[in-house]
Amino acid sequence: MQIVRQLDPLRDALAEFRKAGLKIGLVPTMGALHAGHMRLVEVAREQCDAVVASIFVNPTQFGEGEDLDAYPRQEVADAALLDAAGVELLWAPTADQMYPSGYATSVSVTGISDGLCGAARPGHFDGVATVVAKLFNQVRPDAAYFGEKDYQQLAVIRRMARDLDFTHDIVGVPTVRDPDGLALSSRNAYLTAEQRANAVALPEAMREAATAIADGGKVAAILEAAKARILASGFHKIDYLELRDANTLALLDVFTKPARLFAAAHIGPTRLIDNIPLS
Ligand code: PAF
Repeated sequence: MQIVRQLDPLRDALAEFRKAGLKIGLVPTMGALHAGHMRLVEVAREQCDAVVASIFVNPTQFGEGEDLDAYPRQEVADAALLDAAGVELLWAPTADQMYPSGYATSVSVTGISDGLCGAARPGHFDGVATVVAKLFNQVRPDAAYFGEKDYQQLAVIRRMARDLDFTHDIVGVPTVRDPDGLALSSRNAYLTAEQRANAVALPEAMREAATAIADGGKVAAILEAAKARILASGFHKIDYLELRDANTLALLDVFTKPARLFAAAHIGPTRLIDNIPLS
């Protein structure tokens, strides 16, 4: 696997892939790779001839007081995993390749970015949309792969790609979970053993609430009960637990298909997010 940190050699390597007629799949990440990321790589490998993974801990998507400095960085271990998974090229740009001195441009996707994590983390999705637009321009993939765990991010990226005329496929890959149901996340590494044991209350309460809502129960009452259960299980703050339209992300107070349940909650210093479909 080639590891490339500068734009010129990246373009040279990609030109070789294109000359060979290879379909290029891009898996953007911020590193600290887990089985969820590796599933993205696996799907990309099934659908493409050459897989490019990127690792860049993007400062513009972290707000003040968030975990930019603490975010786990383990490039050597990540590179070994990607290599073993058959990735052809790791794009690990330096910060100045991504944001050169005088950098002044931002991509902002309004509407779909406003609620959920957009409300709790102002500016976050501008940072995501900006860096992903740059990655799309840098790599010009035939398909790009994102986890449904960050479902609002996926919706923002789909809208950004449509609005800015990126024509490649944007592929959403279902969330990978630990056997007890906790969604895999690089931030799970922050959890103590006790917090990790308690964290399972989040997907459990969500699953129960989703079933009760799909069975015709009152949405508001069910969500209140689920919040109480989460707060009684070691979480100290809930940013949101909401039922939303799965396509538009519009808030739903009555169950209509397609719908998803979205949650973000804090346990110790760690903020966990999750979402599940209602059937
Ligand atoms: O999901 C992530 O890891 C990041 O938000 C992404 C898409 C790589 C952009 O920095």
